[in-house]
Amino acid sequence: MYLALDFPNLKTTKTFLESNSLQGVPVKVGMELFYREGTQVINYLKENNHSIFLDLKLFDIPTTVERAMRNLAKFEIDFVNVHALGGAEMIKRAKEGLQTSSVSNHETKLLAVTILTSMDNKVIKEDLGLTGTVEEEVKRLAILSEKSGANGVVCSVHEASLIKSVCNPAFKTMTPGIRLSNSDNNDQKRVATPKYAKDNGSDYIVIGRSITQAEHPKSAYEKALGEWSK
Ligand code: C5P
Repeated sequence: MYLALDFPNLKTTKTFLESNSLQGVPVKVGMELFYREGTQVINYLKENNHSIFLDLKLFDIPTTVERAMRNLAKFEIDFVNVHALGGAEMIKRAKEGLQTSSVSNHETKLLAVTILTSMDNKVIKEDLGLTGTVEEEVKRLAILSEKSGANGVVCSVHEASLIKSVCNPAFKTMTPGIRLSNSDNNDQKRVATPKYAKDNGSDYIVIGRSITQAEHPKSAYEKALGEWSK
């Protein structure tokens, strides 16, 4: 279970983790924090033994993505990702970048974002111009990502079992859009509880605001972990 550290800087991140005794838990670092603190935040988290998913969702020409991945591989963290909509060649080159630059045989796993969990059928049709439903596009993009060398996908819980049915069982599903039953959906449209995720084929969950904005983050974390680990 990866805790989304959607904080503006390292200071608030440290304060949150330390005051809630959450040092060492698996974490996801996104654009907000990484663009502000870069290497410093990764080093801090590594020193404190956190498993790290660096969620930068790369989407650019294949050469640029490959070169960026060579640099990210040097962090020796657990997961990085790209947008599957960047296409097969971009995903392949991302993987090559991670492999050519890996030191001491460390493997940074590559995930591909299928369709963001904030999007629904209306948005993907009207804004992205995609012809399929969310389910159809997620399935298509998961197959494309697997063929292109990704280790798994980031998808909604509601699509995890569908992906498991069309991809190799070893192909991982990382699912955000997780909410504890009593919390707000915020901007997420396709949400589910940790228990639902567990019962429906998620290999890993990402949970942010249900914990970071809870009145008692530590108890919210334990509640989510309890549901997820059962
Ligand atoms: O606060 P919440 O639990 O909604 O946080 C979800 C986290 O997962 C955010 O950091 C968001 O950027 C990320 N994410 C997502 N949907 C994806 C990929 C990543 O919500 N498809």
